[in-house]
Formats: sequence, structure tokens, C-alpha cells
Amino acid sequence: MRDRVRQLRVTILADNLAAGGEGVLAEHGLSLLVEADGQSLLFDVGQSGIVLGNAARLGLDLTRAHSVVLSHGHYDHTGALPLLLAALGPKEIIAHPALFQGKYARRRRAKPRPIGFPGGRDALAERGAALNLDAEPRALLPGVMTSGEIARTTDFETIPAYFAVRAGRGMRKDEFADEQALAIRTRKGLVVLVGCSHRGVVNALRHAAALTGEERIHAVIGGTHLGPASDEQVERTIEEFENLGVERVVACHCTGFRAAARLAEALGDRFDPGGVGYQFKA
Ligand SMILES: [Fe+2]
Ligand SMILES: [Fe+2]
Repeated sequence: MRDRVRQLRVTILADNLAAGGEGVLAEHGLSLLVEADGQSLLFDVGQSGIVLGNAARLGLDLTRAHSVVLSHGHYDHTGALPLLLAALGPKEIIAHPALFQGKYARRRRAKPRPIGFPGGRDALAERGAALNLDAEPRALLPGVMTSGEIARTTDFETIPAYFAVRAGRGMRKDEFADEQALAIRTRKGLVVLVGCSHRGVVNALRHAAALTGEERIHAVIGGTHLGPASDEQVERTIEEFENLGVERVVACHCTGFRAAARLAEALGDRFDPGGVGYQFKA
């Protein structure tokens, strides 16, 4: 990918906290609006549809978004999709083919809880969505591309065993083949958007850098899933942010309070907790 985005703005439309904007709402979920040189797309849509009201309150027009990219199949990133399509009309949906696998959370002695996309493929087809399912990286706009399947190259980023997918009559551990990041080349370097970072935020950054040939990572924005991570993983992640030269870390959604506090302590002004209404420009 050789193009660069000249003007980038990323707005958080759904997140676990609200940063600002009169009357905006928060939920457990994530949605980012990407505006790049006059074109826009959505990266994830949150779970309940608050993106619609939040966008209106922030003065943003979602009808102009030309596509929706989904980071992975969990309900807190995909749940609002049928509602969104009903409100905005048909959109192109870009995701990994494994996105519609039945996804579950398995806790000891409890019944597995479904946490995948609640609507099913048919709910999207009924609303005229064009499903573009691809395991490979895909260029979306000049300077903007999906990661494809994220390579796992770190030795300290692990996936909790309680995430599962349906396999035949039983279940197996979810390895998150469906997880994708969004890589955006800007004049300041690479901006990487992550949904939940189930395969590890450092894996996502390394993968995006290798894919684009971009050495400078300007920023990472999204969920880092450091909430349930060990102290060691949090410390190694901070070390790797430094090794990769990451200038800005906007870690929100599933980052967790404890990890966010540690990131703030280690990174100072380079860290921001995001929140609905937060805007990032590059
Ligand atoms: Fe997730
Ligand atoms: Fe999530």
C-alpha cells in the first residue's frame, strides 16, 4: 500500500465510557467512525444502536459511510448492525468469513453464554447488506486497509480459554481467526484501529506494520483486552509500545481500569482513555 491519507479523523461513537458531547450515551461496546480525505467508513458498530443517537448529537452523518468493517464477531462490536442497516440503508459489510461462527463464553459450572453476532447472516441479507467476507487484507480507501488474519508473533499475548466457538456438536477454544484490525497510513505514520485485540494488541501492531511496510507507528486506537491480562503481559505490552515507537495510545473499551491506569502512569500524555465523543486527528 503506497497511498497515504492526508487528513484523518477518527471519532469514537460507542465505548464503555463517554468522553464528552451533550447527551451522548455509553455501553459495553466499540464503534469508530473513520473519516479519511472526504470519505468515511465505520469500524464496528457497538451492541445496541447508541451509535445512531451519538452520531446525531455529535453532528456526524452516518449515511455517508460507504462501508462497515467488523473487527470480529462478538455482539458488543456487531450487535447494532441490523438496526443500523434499517436506519441508514444497505451498506457494504467487510469481515472475515469466520465472523458468523457461534461464539460463546464458557465459565466453570455455568451454561455457555452466546456472545456472537446475535442477528445471524439472514438478518443482514434481509436488509440488503452486501457481505464481503475475506480472510485476506483488503484495500478499502487510498491509504486504508484491513489487516486480514492477524499473525501471532509475540510469546506473551494469550487468549483466555473461556472464549469458545461451536465445533460440530461440541465447542473448542476460540482462536479468533476472524479478528481484523484497520491499518491507516498517514503523514505521521501508521494509525492502527483495533476492536478487542483478542490476538494481542502488539501482534496487531506488528502485523499492520509488516503488512504496510510502514516503520513508524503513530497511534493505536481501540480495545486492548488488557483487563483480564497478567501484570507481566501489561508490562511487556508497554515495553513493546516503546520498542515499536508508538507515539499515541488511545486504549478504551475492554482495556480495563487497572491496565488503563498503568498505561497512563507509564505513557503520560501519550495515553488517552478515549470514550464516546473523543476525536483523534492526524
Ligand atoms: Fe471481543
Ligand atoms: Fe469487545
